[in-house]
Amino acid sequence: MGSEREGRVLVAAGGGVAAMKTPFLLRRLREAGYQVRALATERALAFTTETALAVAAGSPVATDAAWFAASGGALHLELARWADLLVVAPATAAGLARAASGLAEDLLTATIAAGVPRVLWAPAMNPEMWHYPATQENVSRLRGWGHGFVGPEHGALAAVGEGAGVGRMSEPETIVEHVRYHLTPKDLAGLTVIVSAGPTREYFDPVRFISNPSSGKMGYALAEAARDRGARVILVSGPTSLPAPWGVELIAVERAEEMHQAITSRFDDADAVVMAAAVADWRPAETASEKTPKRSGSNTVELVPTPDILAELGRRKERQVLVGFAMETGAGRERARSKLERKNLDFICLNYPTRSGSAFGGDYNEVEMLFPDGRVVATGRVSKREVAEAIWDRVRDLLRERNEEGAQDA
Ligand code: C5P
Repeated sequence: MGSEREGRVLVAAGGGVAAMKTPFLLRRLREAGYQVRALATERALAFTTETALAVAAGSPVATDAAWFAASGGALHLELARWADLLVVAPATAAGLARAASGLAEDLLTATIAAGVPRVLWAPAMNPEMWHYPATQENVSRLRGWGHGFVGPEHGALAAVGEGAGVGRMSEPETIVEHVRYHLTPKDLAGLTVIVSAGPTREYFDPVRFISNPSSGKMGYALAEAARDRGARVILVSGPTSLPAPWGVELIAVERAEEMHQAITSRFDDADAVVMAAAVADWRPAETASEKTPKRSGSNTVELVPTPDILAELGRRKERQVLVGFAMETGAGRERARSKLERKNLDFICLNYPTRSGSAFGGDYNEVEMLFPDGRVVATGRVSKREVAEAIWDRVRDLLRERNEEGAQDA
């Protein structure tokens, strides 16, 4: 369960078969900590029920039937003023057309016309209807007014015999991510950040490598948090099983050498680099082109150091904020401090991967941020996303200080 989050979300179900999923969306939003209310168009109630929506929302559903009965005709105004964001899920071709022509003939379109601050559409329809020129023009018109869209996605379609195509409503979990994006203040807008994530693989033949159990979750959480806060995000990732985050430029690499190349070649454009990747410190001196045959007895592989990416960035940095991670299993602070200095970082995030609760691959972490002036900021045991937010808070503050100093010097 998430903590209480800022944001009141009005969820409107349109008249499509995906309205069956609208109660799940309401539930997920409440779990994520948002306040919700539900609205259903008359046609939506052919696919879902008022009871299912009311139970999921935890409050009565706004319907056309209740529009005038409930509040003397002002329900559309009340809803438009209450909501921070209106999510229309599912949105039909007809709903998009009505909104794009400014109609205010039912409770949904009247609420939009009454000035709800933001609108996010989750369309669901058959692919022909989605690609129909009128629909596409309506979508661009709405986008031009600042409305957001999530989906439709490619996948199996609901109507029997229709097969697959672009037209499926995005899953409730994906819609929640977009809600979060729309409701997050954009305090990193205008910044370009590079985040590294995951392990590297250092091959000694085509099928064997040295690696580590990094899951990439910390780095992906950093990338998603920065995206939601308005940054342009370049995520350089070693092999992980995580889905590619939307709205992020993902560069997939395997070896430390490839990660080095991907990051150093983009460094001049970056305002900040957070190295959450568990880069292998050593690689085999030679990589055999064929699988090495099994031999009896012991075997020795010569290892040579990989390029230390952060140390190189530390030497090159001008205005950029550089953040490293230190994974320590013992007395970590001294070792982390020496890395902070040696690599010329702005701060280093010390964590203990073998401690229970903040292990490799988990969803939680516990980080101490160590600064060159001796300050230590501890997050306590929180989700990796919350650790990420705390890191970006510090990066934002450091960049602001730097800009103010720059302005004074000029
Ligand atoms: O491996 P080490 O403990 O020195 O890692 C500290 C920081 O340096 C981490 O942020 C890691 O991503 C980074 N690093 C690097 N290149 C390496 C090794 C580590 O950028 N070859």
